[in-house]
Amino acid sequence: MPGKGVKAEIPPLPGQYHLSVDRLVEETAAVYELGIPAVILFGLPETKDETGSSGYADDGVVQQAIAAIKSQVPDIMVITDVCLCEYTSHGHCGMIKDNDVDNDATLDLLARTAVSHAAAGADMVAPSDMMDGHVQAIRKALDREGFAQIPIMAYAAKYASVFYGPFRDAAESAPQFGDRRSYQMDPCNSREAMREVSLDIAEGADIVMVKPAMPYLDVIRRVRDEFDLPVAAYQVSGEFAMIHAAARMGWLDGERAMMEAITSIRRAGADIIITYAAPEIARHLQAG
Ligand code: PBG
Ligand code: ZN
Repeated sequence: MPGKGVKAEIPPLPGQYHLSVDRLVEETAAVYELGIPAVILFGLPETKDETGSSGYADDGVVQQAIAAIKSQVPDIMVITDVCLCEYTSHGHCGMIKDNDVDNDATLDLLARTAVSHAAAGADMVAPSDMMDGHVQAIRKALDREGFAQIPIMAYAAKYASVFYGPFRDAAESAPQFGDRRSYQMDPCNSREAMREVSLDIAEGADIVMVKPAMPYLDVIRRVRDEFDLPVAAYQVSGEFAMIHAAARMGWLDGERAMMEAITSIRRAGADIIITYAAPEIARHLQAG
């Protein structure tokens, strides 16, 4: 987030902070020391507007953060979340037209966002918007602008989940009207996930993601079995918050619960796990 010296804990996510760029660099260096190979950045901008313009501004908060990390912790892989919802006043992941998200009008803005991240030095972009055709639009734009080597990790099977609640509070990105069910997936449907994954692969995705993780272990397994690309799974904010909340109440052994949760995601077939618990897991593994 903008500012200097900011490190403010996010209440439902113990150990997770809103960070200004200077503090983010310190945090990233510490994380890299723990053996964590990559970070994924989410921005909380100064101002939000109808088209999410601070998301693709050259001097946006994420663009500044990428450049600072790459100059001071060059070896850590910097991945960026590509979406509009953190930057739009209405909180939707796309452009609004007639009270509805306009899929095709959104593609160009997503492509601009991805290009601006790559230009700032990002090593990989991760579109989380769930617009149809997004991977192709981003791939074409990256190639055209000289970033053909930058891979795309597509949030391919992303469900309309209540488990994103703590993240949306933290990012102030809850939709101001309606919900995300016209672009995120129906939790009842697993075959649709296979269609979404194959579309993203056909459009040029390099890694496909399933999100959330633990409530969708069957989907992770199916994607792993049916496709050849690396599969990422995202243990989302609500999954993390539940374990920590129960541990705080003394109702669960939090460390063991977290390790069991992560192991189940791995067992389901995830090659890559994105998790807020990465530092605590790394410490646990180092301690043997
Ligand atoms: C933005 C985005 C979201 C998350 C990651 N990228 C929120 C959403 O789709 O509402 C959720 C992350 C989490 O809950 O940890 N599209
Ligand atoms: Zn979004």
